[in-house]
Amino acid sequence: MFAVSAPDNQSPTPESVDAMTQAALGELDAVSDAPAAEDWRVSYLGRRGQLTMLLRGLSGLDPDLRRAVGARANQAKSTLEEALARRTRELAQAALEASGRLDVTLPGRPVIAGRLHPTTQIVREICSAFMAMGFSVVEGPEVELDHYNFEMLNIPAGHPARDMWNSLWIDYRNEQGQQPMLLRTHTSPMQARVMEAQEPPVRVIVPGKCYRYEATDATHEWHFYQIEGLAVAEGITFADLKGTLYEFARRVFGDDRQIRFRCDYFPFVEPGVDMSISNFRDPTTGQRPINRDEDWIEIMGAGMVHPKVLAGVGYDPQRYTGFAFGMGPERIGMLKYGIDDIRHFYSNDVRFLRQF
Ligand code: PHE
Repeated sequence: MFAVSAPDNQSPTPESVDAMTQAALGELDAVSDAPAAEDWRVSYLGRRGQLTMLLRGLSGLDPDLRRAVGARANQAKSTLEEALARRTRELAQAALEASGRLDVTLPGRPVIAGRLHPTTQIVREICSAFMAMGFSVVEGPEVELDHYNFEMLNIPAGHPARDMWNSLWIDYRNEQGQQPMLLRTHTSPMQARVMEAQEPPVRVIVPGKCYRYEATDATHEWHFYQIEGLAVAEGITFADLKGTLYEFARRVFGDDRQIRFRCDYFPFVEPGVDMSISNFRDPTTGQRPINRDEDWIEIMGAGMVHPKVLAGVGYDPQRYTGFAFGMGPERIGMLKYGIDDIRHFYSNDVRFLRQF
């Protein structure tokens, strides 16, 4: 099967080295299993193999020929060694495929597990806290009528409070041809939609996305989530508002964070407040990563539903009272986990996302 070594009386030349290399490569292609590959190795690269013998005989040649043949033979050696390594891998692969088995010794490919986005996690956590207190979850449209986003909330056209929400208007007129539309600037329009659709008592929370035509910074995004809350029934007081929101904060932040209420103005509540949480401090450094100089971070607006809003949906404001609130879950996530920039939530950087 294998060529015999060149007879001693015939000196090798670069050409004869090439010819031997070609012959060897041809034979290697025909090799079909590991023992045959080993025979091939012995016959060319083994201790008495053709190429080995040739290299050993170089010293007997005259210097010019020795240099030329030596260089070619060394090249041939690495060519044959590489070809053998490749063929051995091919044979091993073919044997594995033929056996139909799995090579359990190979290192596994890591499977990257997906997970819920931190915003989704925090929205769900907040919703669960309120569901445990008897609220149900509803959702509403992100493209909203001016009517619900403003009018029904006691913010008529031209009302200066409209400046509180920089709006992204939709260049579209619906069938009636006169209803301006926008990307909702808050989830509060769902207060009116829910009350129109049902009689009291009402106890709902509304998670969803909102949009504002605003510059972004570490605590402001132009699109963000809000979670609206609304409870209307006979005899609801401001004490119920405070009790509910204290309980929410205790469930989400635990017992050791503080809460502060201050007076605030929103046209659809009276009285109106905002609620802040004591700023996050890094447990190891004691530093505040978010708004370093602030002791408090505002997380929501709230208040007692304005009688005009109740009357607008056909509820009797003499009989029914209620409270409403609207909070920013990303800010709550920031304060809970010490995230220093709200824009991380929308940057889709897996190094950030993986931490949750
Ligand atoms: N909708 C208000 C905002 O986006 C928050 C709010 C909701 C205030 C409900 C009071 C009651 O700023």
